[in-house]
Amino acid sequence: MKVLVTGAGGQLGRELLRTAPHAVEAVGLSAGELDITDAAAVEATIAEHRPAVVVNAAAYTAVDRAETERERAWAVNADGAGHLAEAVARHGARLAHVSTDFVFSGELGRAWSPQAPTSPVGEYGASKAAGEARVRSALGEEALIVRTAWVYAAHGHNFATTMLRLMTERERLTVVEDQIGTPTWARGLAEVLWSAVEAGLTGTHHWTDAGVASWYDFAVAIRDEGAARGLVPAGVEVAPIPGAAWPTPARRPPQGVLDKTSLREAVGVESVHWRAQLAAMLDEYRDARNR
Ligand SMILES: NC(=O)c1ccc[n+]([C@@H]2O[C@H](COP(=O)([O-])OP(=O)(O)OC[C@H]3O[C@@H](n4cnc5c(N)ncnc54)[C@H](OP(=O)(O)O)[C@@H]3O)[C@@H](O)[C@H]2O)c1
Repeated sequence: MKVLVTGAGGQLGRELLRTAPHAVEAVGLSAGELDITDAAAVEATIAEHRPAVVVNAAAYTAVDRAETERERAWAVNADGAGHLAEAVARHGARLAHVSTDFVFSGELGRAWSPQAPTSPVGEYGASKAAGEARVRSALGEEALIVRTAWVYAAHGHNFATTMLRLMTERERLTVVEDQIGTPTWARGLAEVLWSAVEAGLTGTHHWTDAGVASWYDFAVAIRDEGAARGLVPAGVEVAPIPGAAWPTPARRPPQGVLDKTSLREAVGVESVHWRAQLAAMLDEYRDARNR
């Protein structure tokens, strides 16, 4: 089965290529190789490769910058997703599209169901919700849409790598404690996406690692697990602050916990607790540094 992976240089794209199953011929296309905002290039690429499936891991993910770069965010997250879905429909292929908890407002007191109406509070979330709509409009329920949250990897810019850097530079950090979600290792997400693609799953589903955390909890775990591996000093102080004390250009959903039941039942995979995944990622991070 030939599968094109867009956004192949990103956190998820790299992990998808690293974890591709034996039965899959995965072809990764970075932003430089395929700009999904270019409809003609998308069409030509799919006509040339004739993939059975396209996994769209390309996205504009700069949540705060999206407030001022609205056009760029929408071009990638809404139009780009639409170009891919329309080309996939024309060529009779399938699309697995990745989306985000930011399509929700985060004000619900329980985990978000995949069927809950979207209610984004910022441009990034709005552009991703529009991308989902474009995908559904081209492919209907034949498309696979998987929403995830708080993605990190040993590479790329993410909360974990930023914390590891700051903890070597500063003696004290303050981190928001009243935004709740689930840190999700890109590796585990990639593996579940492959299971879903191989199973031919369609519809809208959610996937994150297991458990919940605040950004503060996540930072404390990064400090403790990082210190245990000699990556950061054990004495770095991590202090909790309310989100109101850390104003950002984009509003963020205060509660982004996603209900993973449908994907878990469909592919028969249990999610792993986020802290165990963090430990596995940090083992890899340490080993890469020591190589
Ligand atoms: N990161 C998170 O916390 C998070 C949370 C929830 C959902 N998600 C979703 O998960 C998916 C994967 O995100 P990620 O964490 O892997 O993000 P990422 O590391 O920012 O990767 C996104 C990739 O897309 C590429 N890209 C940007 N514009 C493009 C374009 N016009 N054409 C082709 N490629 C383009 C980027 O290339 P450049 O770097 O060269 O621009 C980058 O390599 C996205 O759908 C995202 O919305 C992410």
